[in-house]
Amino acid sequence: MSKDLFFMRDPWVYNPKTEPPQRSDKNLGFETRSLHAGFHPLMDMEQFRAFVPPIVPSMTYPYKQFDEIPYPVYGRTKTPTAALLEERLASLEGGEACLTAGSGSQALFNLIFNIARPGDNIVTTLNTFGEGYKQATTIFPERCGVQFHFVKDPADPNSWDQAIDAETKLVWIETPSNPTLFVTDIAAVADVAHARGVPLMVDNTTATAALQKPMQLGADIVLLSVTKFLAGNATVLGGALVGPEALIEDVRWNTTEFVGAIMQPFDSWLTLQYLETLSLRMERHSLNSQRIAEFLAAHPKVKHVNHTGLSDHPQRELAQKQMSGPGGLMSFVVSGGMQSAAKVMDSFELICHAVTFGTSRSICMHPATITHEHMTPAERTAAGIDDGLIRLSVGLENVEDLMTDLNQALAKI
Ligand SMILES: Cc1ncc(COP(=O)(O)O)c(C=O)c1O
Repeated sequence: MSKDLFFMRDPWVYNPKTEPPQRSDKNLGFETRSLHAGFHPLMDMEQFRAFVPPIVPSMTYPYKQFDEIPYPVYGRTKTPTAALLEERLASLEGGEACLTAGSGSQALFNLIFNIARPGDNIVTTLNTFGEGYKQATTIFPERCGVQFHFVKDPADPNSWDQAIDAETKLVWIETPSNPTLFVTDIAAVADVAHARGVPLMVDNTTATAALQKPMQLGADIVLLSVTKFLAGNATVLGGALVGPEALIEDVRWNTTEFVGAIMQPFDSWLTLQYLETLSLRMERHSLNSQRIAEFLAAHPKVKHVNHTGLSDHPQRELAQKQMSGPGGLMSFVVSGGMQSAAKVMDSFELICHAVTFGTSRSICMHPATITHEHMTPAERTAAGIDDGLIRLSVGLENVEDLMTDLNQALAKI
């Protein structure tokens, strides 16, 4: 087989002058698109006549003729069910196309692996999720020769400009960040990146498109962990990239094809069901977390609360400008450092101590020892990850019950 058959797409070349994507469904509301995008019972898969999209579990797709490659051809790159999910995610983010991956971390890895070569660099900050930090500080620099420039003052657009050079292939923002809810000005960083001819990727995992639309603010690419709020109950592991079709197909055919794989049919199908309630869930996550943030901010055992809806959040105005609600992720620092954090977390009766967030049931986690343990103490301090910091993913429970649980646990320290 010739090499051309493997490398089916030309590498994407970023053109900062490209017009923002114009989707034909842009006039439909977000709630409607989360229910309908990608699938219409009669138009798309008429033979099924099914109200609910079907799962197609086949991992291979037969040739009709010797010289006619079917598409999909193999489950590593495309299946009908994943394609449906990809169309829905692209629609929700307002992007041209989408490519899923086995996890959010894999989606990040695939993108960087695809667009950067030894000697290139990526510009980002310390305000990223733990595995992102590990990819940026060890995996890519040590194994692929791709360096990461960490912006000194992410609140200052000039600082982003100073970190970009001729070898920069991507600017990567996570906003609001996990776990400290740092908010970065998407439009301002997009302007800086575009003026230097570099694409901007925004990790929209914590807010989701229900609360924040990075592409409307100038982002070229959106990174998603489907595992979190999108699926919403820790029954799916998945990730996605949304962006220009030429980029998405470049990553699909020049990276995913070789290191596999997209999200599996059953996980894709589950996510389609869960997305139907995304806007409702994000609304309730936001209401519950706001109540809890206010409650914790007034609690004598709590030193500090990170929540974009509180008046003392350093980027509150910006958060209100670029988000339509705070979402369910927050964090707080208890008095007494790590020992107190451990005591509080062990004392919860309702809130579960586990590694993930965005679930319908509330979850807590200790970033300094679990997700951000590879940072140096100085880096943790710079990123605001105190030893007493507890990350709280506020679920959909009755908010009074959650406050009772927090109150009784905090009373133990
Ligand atoms: C903001 C953010 N992006 C991406 C990821 C990676 O997602 P996954 O757990 O699906 O690999 C995470 C995981 O914690 C995250 O917090």
